[in-house]
Amino acid sequence: MSDMPEEQRWRGAEITVSDSRRGVDADDRSGDVIVARFALLPADVVARQSVPDDIDSIRDAVRQCTEMADILILTGGTGLGPRDLTPQALLPMFDYEVPGMAEVMRHQGLKSTPHAMLSRQVVGVTAACLVLSLPGSPNAVAECLDAVWPALPHALALISGDTRHPDPAGTTT
Ligand code: MTE
Repeated sequence: MSDMPEEQRWRGAEITVSDSRRGVDADDRSGDVIVARFALLPADVVARQSVPDDIDSIRDAVRQCTEMADILILTGGTGLGPRDLTPQALLPMFDYEVPGMAEVMRHQGLKSTPHAMLSRQVVGVTAACLVLSLPGSPNAVAECLDAVWPALPHALALISGDTRHPDPAGTTT
């Protein structure tokens, strides 16, 4: 028997929030970026949904996904338009927020575009599931995930109840 610990695999879910994609089998490039990152985490994709920019639809999808996932990533609906409702839908659902993750994503985005300050993206935990909302464009999704990537495994471990601290080399003590 090997002494190596088994690799931790997580359960990932993705929700694309967009009026234009409702009912349309459109190419969901931002969702595809998220799913490709799940493979690296590593996380098995347990759910993918597309919902319109509508608070009840977003909440229904979030409830379904958080029941079965350790990490849920939403894309879209974080801007300033009248139909950008993702933060309003999510905030009352959180058991607690993780503001540092939202801050670092906006901070990183500002290196690419001043428009990053227009995303009201939020991060929090509900039902022991880490929920991140990202802007809608595939580039923004990639940049945001780059920003939080170094802390994601430790965040998921903490939420699951594992309080060990990784040393700087990335091993857990
Ligand atoms: N963040 C990063 N990293 N890169 C981007 O290109 N685009 C911004 C912003 N955040 C962007 C970004 C733009 S143009 C908008 S309008 C807001 O995210 C909100 O996008 P959303 O309404 O699609 O969620």
